[in-house]
Amino acid sequence: MPLSHRSTLTQFLIEERRRFPGASGDFNSLILDVALACKAIARVVAFGELGGVLGNHGADGDGNGGTVNVQGETQKKLDVLSNNVFIRRTEWSGHLAGMASEEMDGPYQIPAQYPRGKYLLVFDPLDGSSNIDVNMSVGSIFSILRAPPELADSGRDAVEADFLQPGTRQVAAGYALYGPSTMLVLTVGNGVSGFTLDPNMGEFMLTHPSIVVPADTQEFAINASNSRFWEAPVKRYVDECLAGRTGARGKDFNMRWIASMVAEAHRILMRGGVFLYPRDTRDPQKPGRLRLLYEANPVGFIVEQAGGRASTGREPVLARQPASLHQRVGFVFGSKNEVERIERYHTEPAPRAIDNPLFAERSLFRD
Ligand code: AHG
Ligand code: MN
Ligand code: MN
Repeated sequence: MPLSHRSTLTQFLIEERRRFPGASGDFNSLILDVALACKAIARVVAFGELGGVLGNHGADGDGNGGTVNVQGETQKKLDVLSNNVFIRRTEWSGHLAGMASEEMDGPYQIPAQYPRGKYLLVFDPLDGSSNIDVNMSVGSIFSILRAPPELADSGRDAVEADFLQPGTRQVAAGYALYGPSTMLVLTVGNGVSGFTLDPNMGEFMLTHPSIVVPADTQEFAINASNSRFWEAPVKRYVDECLAGRTGARGKDFNMRWIASMVAEAHRILMRGGVFLYPRDTRDPQKPGRLRLLYEANPVGFIVEQAGGRASTGREPVLARQPASLHQRVGFVFGSKNEVERIERYHTEPAPRAIDNPLFAERSLFRD
């Protein structure tokens, strides 16, 4: 095989760091530890049924029941295992002051035998885990924040409030996608880079430098089974997409729904598109499905760094001040012009056609 001309993730990070001569290297080693966690999870996922890791965590002999996380969702074995892999691979290094994850009720404290550091790691260890038992793509999502200086200096335990930082304060964010190939997509606030895991070497190789999301698209992703709960601006947007060439948009749209947000995000980074999991009226306790700190913020940071837009539907998601660790939020992201249109629909008055069928798109009375 010819010698690869591609950079490894390690080389990429060291070359990035040269732009900051004072940097200690802590940050790079933290990213490499996270990347190692993702490689370990990729191997476990790849064994599927053979690895004995499918199904619910804590289920009985018939596969029924099991443990439930703080979100009220049944945990898969792989949710718990991936969470433990993230912890074990990163807790020892001295770079972290604490962690938080979808699968843990509160902050994880760095064990006393290890030094504590200046960063916080927040993650969704396995996104799209309802897909795991049917061998569809899943992934891991992570976000790195600075620990408040007083936490880093005092060495006290991390508390929820330390993590409640808006997405604009993220130092880095990334995801791993365990698909036909395993990829790591990363931003350190200077564009977005994609790496493919070389299974021969066990190294992430830079295959997608400078990922850019096209500003326009004709592809959208939404779980249409929730349509009866959607708010009017979302209904309007989707109706217009469905109306295609003969409707207000004057062009046909295609639709995709994988039910694995990390996989949808990757498709959108590769070829454009718009993803919506909007706030809806299904459950007043849950304003949206996705979680702000470890799903929307990291994916939002990546998408914006790639020139796309990430929104709650109303305002930039990265500007939202989090109120709790597991807070949910409406989330719309992707090609900039579509996301801006959806935001506009949330602020402008509904078109008359919605109020009065006489003024509908192809009505005789349309003005
Ligand atoms: P998780 O597996 O981490 O709980 O997240 C699943 C999320 C997201 O990946 C996906 O877009 C969404 O849930 C799917 O929700 P529906 O089942 O409502 O379509
Ligand atoms: Mn998730
Ligand atoms: Mn998850």
